[in-house]
Amino acid sequence: MSSGSFDTSGVDKERRLFVIAGTSAVGAVGALGATVAGIQYMLPSEKAKSLGAPVEVDISQLEAGMKMTVKWQGKPVWIVRRTDSMLQTLGSLTDNLADPASENTDQQPEYARNEHRSLKAEYLVMVGICTHLGCSPMYKPEPGAAGLPADWKGGFFCPCHGSRFDLAGRVFKGVPAPDNMPVPPHHYINDNIILVGEDA
Ligand code: FES
Repeated sequence: MSSGSFDTSGVDKERRLFVIAGTSAVGAVGALGATVAGIQYMLPSEKAKSLGAPVEVDISQLEAGMKMTVKWQGKPVWIVRRTDSMLQTLGSLTDNLADPASENTDQQPEYARNEHRSLKAEYLVMVGICTHLGCSPMYKPEPGAAGLPADWKGGFFCPCHGSRFDLAGRVFKGVPAPDNMPVPPHHYINDNIILVGEDA
């Protein structure tokens, strides 16, 4: 259970956020090694990946405010470590959101039907695919980010057709995307390791 991969697709160059993704597929054997910045990661086997095996993610190096990306079932899964100020924005947006209470139960497990849409408020674990036509939105955590409404408090922006989501992946009213972005099944193995793809 110690294999994993290093995924540089999570580096958000525009924001100059350095993101590290350490992943592993449960049960993966052998595997290729990769050393990046002195850290040893192992890649899950191609068979395990194609079967959509759960993926272990090491979040120990994810700093507050940063986003990392790992791949599960061929989809990008984002993990965002939210700061207290980021979390405080969530309660102020209710009137602007299409489904603030996560009433569409297809979009998250029951344990993520809360304001922060996660098991631990600090960490958002979410499939980073827009629910309009499937593009991958941009991470725009800064309040008042350029090109977004003046009252923008941080979230995700899909430039394809202008859909906006808050920092819990909840979609705003009046945009093309109909639903909140999905939260995959997941649980914590320990404080530093999340298993994406499987409930506890
Ligand atoms: S795919 Fe995201 S707004 Fe159209």
